[in-house]
Amino acid sequence: MAEEQVVRAEGLRKLFGKHAALDGLSLSVPQGQLYGLAGPNGAGKTTLIRTLCGLLRPDEGTAYLLGWRMPNTRVRSQLGYMPQDFAVYDDLSVMQNLEFFGELYGLRRAHVLGRANELLDLVQLSDRKRQRVGTLSGGMRRRVSLAISLLHKPRLAFLDEPTAGVDPKLRRSFWDYFSALAEQGVTLVVTTHLVDEAQRCHIVGFLMAGRLLTQGTPSDILAQTRTTNLDDAFIALQERNQVRS
Ligand SMILES: Nc1ncnc2c1ncn2[C@@H]1O[C@H](COP(=O)(O)OP(=O)(O)O)[C@@H](O)[C@H]1O
Ligand SMILES: [Mg+2]
Repeated sequence: MAEEQVVRAEGLRKLFGKHAALDGLSLSVPQGQLYGLAGPNGAGKTTLIRTLCGLLRPDEGTAYLLGWRMPNTRVRSQLGYMPQDFAVYDDLSVMQNLEFFGELYGLRRAHVLGRANELLDLVQLSDRKRQRVGTLSGGMRRRVSLAISLLHKPRLAFLDEPTAGVDPKLRRSFWDYFSALAEQGVTLVVTTHLVDEAQRCHIVGFLMAGRLLTQGTPSDILAQTRTTNLDDAFIALQERNQVRS
């Protein structure tokens, strides 16, 4: 199938009190794309992801994931979500966390163990399988959360700042893995503050004040902003928008 839009949102508006965290936002992401969501703190990235996943109900607008209008529980088995304020059980070991979520996803135990080992290799926690998650560092707990969100081989994954607190070398292997997943046809939406990460995305959306200011390939964005690196491009976009508002 050509260019299936795996994520499609139209006119999303989400209010917290009088503040519009999403202010009429439309977006679509074709299948197999690595989509980077960039934007300053408070831009609405987390709210957008939570709304797309059906965890927040928009005041206006609609979102479709994999062709289903959200919220829809049928999407769950094909959807991966790594929250920014990630949820892991501190009292359980690394492996017990994966087993617990595997059960929640309805996966067979033998399947979970194989997949868990593969993902723990990726996040470099194979030697910590039996350690209680509560005794791991923040970065390590985040890596457990990433493994959990990909355990069931989702077709579409939303990863909210998956590399915060992760060292540069491991960050790079995460991104190599994201690229490999995209090549296999998985669609990923990843939030980031880091320009070198945005550079590795097929499409980058720049969010500010609940609006998507621009979207395109990294080179499109450089051309639009007449800059030579994404750092300058993001600053230019932010300044332009501040002048207007
Ligand atoms: N549950 C909430 N209640 C009130 N305001 C919120 C809530 N969640 C987010 N906001 C506000 O919405 C805006 C967007 O937040 P967020 O989506 O977390 O941005 P980002 O992830 O880009 O940093 C911010 O102004 C934030 O303070
Ligand atoms: Mg956020």
